Amino acid sequence: MASATARLVSNEVVRGGCHLLRFDVPSSVPEAAPGQFAMLSTRHADFPLLPRPFSILGWQRGDDGSQQAEFLIMPVGRGSSLLCSLQPGEEARLVGPLGHSIDEQLPQNDIVAVAGGYGVAPFLFLIERWARRGDPRAQSSLVIFGARTADRLSLADRLSNAGCRVQLCTDDGSAGFTGRVHEALRGHLAQHAAQLVLSCGPEPMMEAVGDVSREAGVAARASLETVMGCGYAVCNGCAVAVACDTEADGHTYELACREGTLFNEDRLQWTLL
Ligand SMILES: Cc1cc2nc3c(=O)[nH]c(=O)nc-3n(C[C@H](O)[C@H](O)[C@H](O)COP(=O)(O)OP(=O)(O)OC[C@H]3O[C@@H](n4cnc5c(N)ncnc54)[C@H](O)[C@@H]3O)c2cc1C
Ligand code: FES
Repeated sequence: MASATARLVSNEVVRGGCHLLRFDVPSSVPEAAPGQFAMLSTRHADFPLLPRPFSILGWQRGDDGSQQAEFLIMPVGRGSSLLCSLQPGEEARLVGPLGHSIDEQLPQNDIVAVAGGYGVAPFLFLIERWARRGDPRAQSSLVIFGARTADRLSLADRLSNAGCRVQLCTDDGSAGFTGRVHEALRGHLAQHAAQLVLSCGPEPMMEAVGDVSREAGVAARASLETVMGCGYAVCNGCAVAVACDTEADGHTYELACREGTLFNEDRLQWTLL
């Protein structure tokens, strides 16, 4: 983990109203892996007291040590909106990379990733990295990517260009499968083998994905986007309830920023999150 000043290179509004922000990052910052996140803030006087967590969408390192980090940010409140209003040349504070890589102990085939909204970011990073490294999972993996309407499927084209199989889903049928991602997943698992289902998106979506995976007897892991204060295990603000047989009430707490953000879905106590 490092704390550094990152200089904005470009700020592009993409489909769905998200901003694709690309920053120059000092060479002292360790290279990020898919599934990791960074805490971002700006120097703007109105920026909230605490930095905000965002998944790392991409990380390019040049032979000369130069590096660029990409984020896909939806402006929902003060912090994210101020980040999205940055102009090229302006600076942000970056603390990261934080959390674990999702590219740890993944099976060699039959991986399904289910993404909602900007939850596509870690999976796009993973697929693009596999494609660059010639890992066959870039092609064999299926990404089920959903949003309410087609015009909210941010970076769907980039996902398709990355080479993986893509199943788009929209509530209104304006692109791909008509319905929710967990329904598309149920249809897929009824006909195809899968070794692992990954998910990232709104919590109700990930809970439904976990239920469908369990019905089909397939292991599932969920990447949590819990509200965070520090990002590196100091504030306890990201505690999530996980099953624990040795506790009288059947659960204990783990920190999403330190132990996650990816958790085995069957450990998560969704009603207590
Ligand atoms: C590990 C992690 C990765 C994330 N990755 C991304 C990403 O790639 N792109 C992206 O746009 N956002 C991502 N988020 C969510 C992002 O951190 C929040 O949207 C942001 O903190 C909101 O800050 P704000 O000051 O703009 O809004 P606030 O004023 O703090 O809140 C505005 C609204 O956003 C909601 N909100 C606050 N925090 C979250 C959250 N963590 N998740 C969902 N809604 C929230 C609030 O309930 C409120 O309704 C991620 C969160 C985590 C923990
Ligand atoms: S965000 Fe502070 S402990 Fe996890």
